[in-house]
Amino acid sequence: MEYRHIGVAPVAGALGAEIAGVDLRQRVSDAVIAEIRHAWLQYLVLFFRDQPLTSDQYLAFARRIAEPVEYPMLKGLDGYPLIVPVIKLPQERVNFGGLWHSDTAYLETPPIGAMLLAREVPPVGGDTLFANMYLAYESLSDGLRRILDGLHAVNSSAKADVTKTREDRLAEGGAKLAADAVLNAVHPVVRTHPETGRKLLYVNGGHTVCFENMTEGESTPLLHYLFAHLCRPEFTCRLRWQPGTLALWDNRCSQHNPINDYHGHKRVMHRISLGADRPV
Ligand code: SIN
Repeated sequence: MEYRHIGVAPVAGALGAEIAGVDLRQRVSDAVIAEIRHAWLQYLVLFFRDQPLTSDQYLAFARRIAEPVEYPMLKGLDGYPLIVPVIKLPQERVNFGGLWHSDTAYLETPPIGAMLLAREVPPVGGDTLFANMYLAYESLSDGLRRILDGLHAVNSSAKADVTKTREDRLAEGGAKLAADAVLNAVHPVVRTHPETGRKLLYVNGGHTVCFENMTEGESTPLLHYLFAHLCRPEFTCRLRWQPGTLALWDNRCSQHNPINDYHGHKRVMHRISLGADRPV
């Protein structure tokens, strides 16, 4: 597709593009939204610079992409339950979601995408990595792909590493669920993107516990191989945030990992989860 209304500049070979020529404080035309959606499916994660949106403007743009949904674990902003603050304070050591994951794969219908808007960023560090799960799948051998094609996996909200990354936010009163609530969902290990029709790898180190009908001991060696494989550098791109940078990612076919390298500084992001569908 030729982009006639927006500028689209890829940032890496694997995924990611910077979008230029749009001011998201205004209501943009349907033609612009159609091109943004097309670029989103093509590049998996889009970056918009210099978008100091109010919460109302942010929600209005989100609604043009998909229906915003509540985040299951954390409370939203006062008056804006669909906008969740993702914060690391100077005295904290752990960052929210600080490991490779796709969002809330422990739900029966995880979000199709998410947006993050940078409000306050450290002077250096706090970048976010993204990885392309089409490439992760397509680069496996035929033999392993055939095995994985038939498998399902159990995804849980209670995996120890990811639970740790939420502790500071829950401790300051951001919890929506009881501390011991556990959400689980079984999903195909290889899913087909409903809009592009492409197959992709759908296990993640944050939530995937084991293959269905197998023990964790039996599953771990292959899962660990896949967790290391899916974030190979050639499948990734890296976003350097500035205040007002807005990222929009496709949660069906990408994973992300915010880098925890800015101790002593504050980082504040506002997050909106988008849509929901059952992986097949
Ligand atoms: C998240 O996983 O939603 C957090 C991403 C980030 O802080 O960059």
